[in-house]
Amino acid sequence: KILILDFGSQVTQLIARRVREAHVYCELHSFDMPLDDIKAFNPKGIILSGGPNSVYESDYQADVGLFELGVPVLGICYGMQFMAHHLGGEVSAGNQREFGYAQVNTFDSELTRGIEDAPNSLDVWMSHGDKVSKLPHHFKIIGETPSCPIAMMANENKHFYGIQFHPEVTHTKQGKALLNRFVLDICGAKPSWTMPNYIDEAVAKIREQVGSDEVILGLSGGVDSSVAAALIHRAIGDQLTCVFVDHGLLRLNEADNVMQMFANNLGVKVIHVDASEQFMAKLAGVTDPEQKRKIIGAEFIEVFDAEEKKLTNAKWLAQGTIYPDVIESAGAKTKKAHAIKSHHNVGGLPENMKLKLLEPLRDLFKDEVRELGVALGLPREMVYRHPFPGPGLGVRILGEVKREYADLLRRADDIFIEELRQFKDENGTSWYDLTSQAFAVFLPVKSVGVMGDGRTYDYVVALRAVVTSDFMTAHWAELPYALLGKVSNRIINEIKGINRVVYDVSGKPPATIEWE
Ligand code: XMP
Repeated sequence: KILILDFGSQVTQLIARRVREAHVYCELHSFDMPLDDIKAFNPKGIILSGGPNSVYESDYQADVGLFELGVPVLGICYGMQFMAHHLGGEVSAGNQREFGYAQVNTFDSELTRGIEDAPNSLDVWMSHGDKVSKLPHHFKIIGETPSCPIAMMANENKHFYGIQFHPEVTHTKQGKALLNRFVLDICGAKPSWTMPNYIDEAVAKIREQVGSDEVILGLSGGVDSSVAAALIHRAIGDQLTCVFVDHGLLRLNEADNVMQMFANNLGVKVIHVDASEQFMAKLAGVTDPEQKRKIIGAEFIEVFDAEEKKLTNAKWLAQGTIYPDVIESAGAKTKKAHAIKSHHNVGGLPENMKLKLLEPLRDLFKDEVRELGVALGLPREMVYRHPFPGPGLGVRILGEVKREYADLLRRADDIFIEELRQFKDENGTSWYDLTSQAFAVFLPVKSVGVMGDGRTYDYVVALRAVVTSDFMTAHWAELPYALLGKVSNRIINEIKGINRVVYDVSGKPPATIEWE
């Protein structure tokens, strides 16, 4: 396994993703990880990330003992400067910041051997102010650019490498090959980290952790809680009880589908709580989006808590927390904090709950969670589904939530999703897979229409489809007109009560993905 020490770059997570994609297990830790912990981790190699600081600031130093462990070290950007600074070189403030594409002239080295084009040059993404101005002892230059004469350096005896650019971003063309070269060939890590392999290890760990205790899990139908449920069930069978709360704001047939898949197909114990009456009653007359969210979150906790109290033997609460949640909440606080938020889709869980947390996905990235789900036998369609917000249709019905609106919206949404799955682009990929999130929104306004010989006066539905990699920013999806036309026709013809369909062409920012 590989250790990545994080000096605070925006893209450190991507280093970990790339290493995992090479099927090598790695963990991301804060740069100030104590040397004893580093030794105990026993890495095959260490990667030092980039970071926004200067190596002359004493606050941002890793334990230099890591250079004495006899393992290969790759320093990226700040990591390279850190390496230079502590091994006898010099770092100087660049008089100009370098940001963007650059071409690095390369000289033969262990790091670049065998990589396409690399014997001569690499197309890379640079983002730095400081740079290494004098080589550390026993290092040689293995790459240069006009503005950065020491763009790559190596001490091949010790297998120490420094690169000023970012191999983890896709803008660096051979970045992945370079990281693979370091991790697989230079560190000699075995590419054995695959989800089918991981199942046995994860199952053993869960069994050891919970023993003969009982576990409770809030199953939402989303990817993370579903995969967690399947994994835990594989490990401890009937010691797991899932609680599925139907708040009446779910997608069409969602409750039936979840029960079918988990209770019937997989044989998981699932308590299906139909709390829709209760939720609707609490939401009556409420129009403010944040207030609706709060009510739904609080109500969810209440319902879940009541079920939990009935299961008097449960000692563990399982959650679908994944690695990005762990990294984010560790990084968000101070650099030393390792406190982790209790991630939950709907709005947190009761603080007074006397249960221990079981989080079997907390080492995994989202794409790994999906692979694991498939390996556990969950249908691809469910494992690759779009995200769905905890408050569900509650934030897709503008203003006051009414059951009548929810029923209309569910059907419109279902038609939209069905057609997205049907329509393919020229490569045969469905528009569902080409978009990151798509849904219908209910507008509680009426407009005039004409159907047959009669005049209609009915509600409007907006369609929203976005493409995004992180949900922080998003583009509206350029869906084919034929697809939009078909969806519009079907919704208006099949759903009495809706006579107009519009398409949302707003990006995020300035709009958000959800309408509320
Ligand atoms: P926005 O609307 O903020 O959405 O651009 C970004 C992503 O977050 C989801 N979202 C939520 N998820 N509870 C959730 O679990 C919420 O209250 C919530 N609000 C937005 C949204 O669906 C999108 O994927």
